[in-house]
Amino acid sequence: SSPNPFELIPPEIIEDPYEFYAMLRENAPVFHVEEHDIYVVTRHDLCLDALKRPGDFLQWTGAEMFAPGEGPALGPAELWSPEVREIMSRGFENVNTLVTANAPEHTEYRTIVLNAFSASRTAERMTDRIYELTDELIDGFAGKGTAEVVSEFAVPLPVKVIAEILGVPPEEYATFKRWSDDSIVAIGGGVTPQRMIESAESIVEFQQYFVEKINERRAHPTDDVISVMVSAKRSDGTPLDMGELLSILMQMLVAGNETTTSLIGSAIWRIVREPEVAAAVYADPTKVKNAVEEGLRIEAPVQGLFRRTQSEQKLGEFEIPANAKVLIMYGAANRDGNVYEDPDSFSVCRPKPSNHLGFGFGSHFCVGAALARKEANIALERLFARLPNLRLTEGKEIRHQMHPLLRGLTQLWVDFDAK
Ligand code: HEM
Repeated sequence: SSPNPFELIPPEIIEDPYEFYAMLRENAPVFHVEEHDIYVVTRHDLCLDALKRPGDFLQWTGAEMFAPGEGPALGPAELWSPEVREIMSRGFENVNTLVTANAPEHTEYRTIVLNAFSASRTAERMTDRIYELTDELIDGFAGKGTAEVVSEFAVPLPVKVIAEILGVPPEEYATFKRWSDDSIVAIGGGVTPQRMIESAESIVEFQQYFVEKINERRAHPTDDVISVMVSAKRSDGTPLDMGELLSILMQMLVAGNETTTSLIGSAIWRIVREPEVAAAVYADPTKVKNAVEEGLRIEAPVQGLFRRTQSEQKLGEFEIPANAKVLIMYGAANRDGNVYEDPDSFSVCRPKPSNHLGFGFGSHFCVGAALARKEANIALERLFARLPNLRLTEGKEIRHQMHPLLRGLTQLWVDFDAK
């Protein structure tokens, strides 16, 4: 009965939502949550059908998303206090790009971003740097025989990588992480008015920092991602303006951090909690690749995202009205027994390991998928190569963050034989 959609799934279910998903897939694969007026889609075939029809199941733009009483309003509207609005007014107004844009604009932004990644020398050079950064982090705890691998490993690695790709010095990674965390506060539950103010301040600080970087690259282009994006042109020959560039950079920062951290943490957890899986990875390091894909499938860092219908739609045997809020649950689809044999088991021997919806599907498929895969593969490869006999630390609690749409461990203690 609460108006806050973040109470869509109760906390005790968020910790382990998979039985709940199975019940929905079985009994109500398109479930209308009346009090929030949201259609939750859990069956794999139905999720895929919706993702294949981006013109019928549209992305939410930022303004629609937060419109009081209209969008899924991820965060109570009253938190957008006059003080928050005043702070935001000092920055650039939100522009809808990538994940908050629809065709034809979306296609233009996506082409520019994908080109920037493949044309930039920084992104290309990152493999060696990811190895170096990974080993530096492992050096920090390898001698101790124990580590909390979320904060000591899975958090810093993706932030340092994306900071370098976007041209921020690694020493400033803590600031970068703060901006990243703060900018998603508004899409989290249980936010205090003070936290919301901090969040607005961080967004504006992020923008000011990158306005300077963008202007620098305009004056003196290099071979990095920002320089390539600054000089890119749309099909009509126009370049992206400052608001568009900032929106894209913000999405790359936010979408790439928390998710990759969650993937690395969850994959380590799922391997070490089952001794036979850990033994298989130690015996054959090429199994790391399967473990990363299995982490994306079985503990999808993005459990679900919203779409909206403009007109009445059919999804399989189900009718969805016009102007409906639709929640596509990748995390539930990924455990569908009609697609995956023994769907709840973490197996490093699946014949098609990357057959999952962990990065979405279709026109909005994750633009950072190759980078995230590379980071997670290197992280796990080096961790298992360097630390013998990795196992869960006894007596330490395993807890997931309390978020219905983002899944990741808050901490993960492991022991190993110190060298
Ligand atoms: C394990 C890590 C990651 C996961 C699980 C993940 C997941 C996803 C998913 C599910 C989508 C689809 C959104 C939709 O259907 O509306 C997506 C889109 C996106 N991701 Fe990722 N992502 C990850 C890493 C990254 C990284 C490293 C970056 C940036 C460098 C990134 C940037 C984006 C962007 C910009 C989009 C929007 C693409 C579009 O709408 O065209 N992601 N991601």
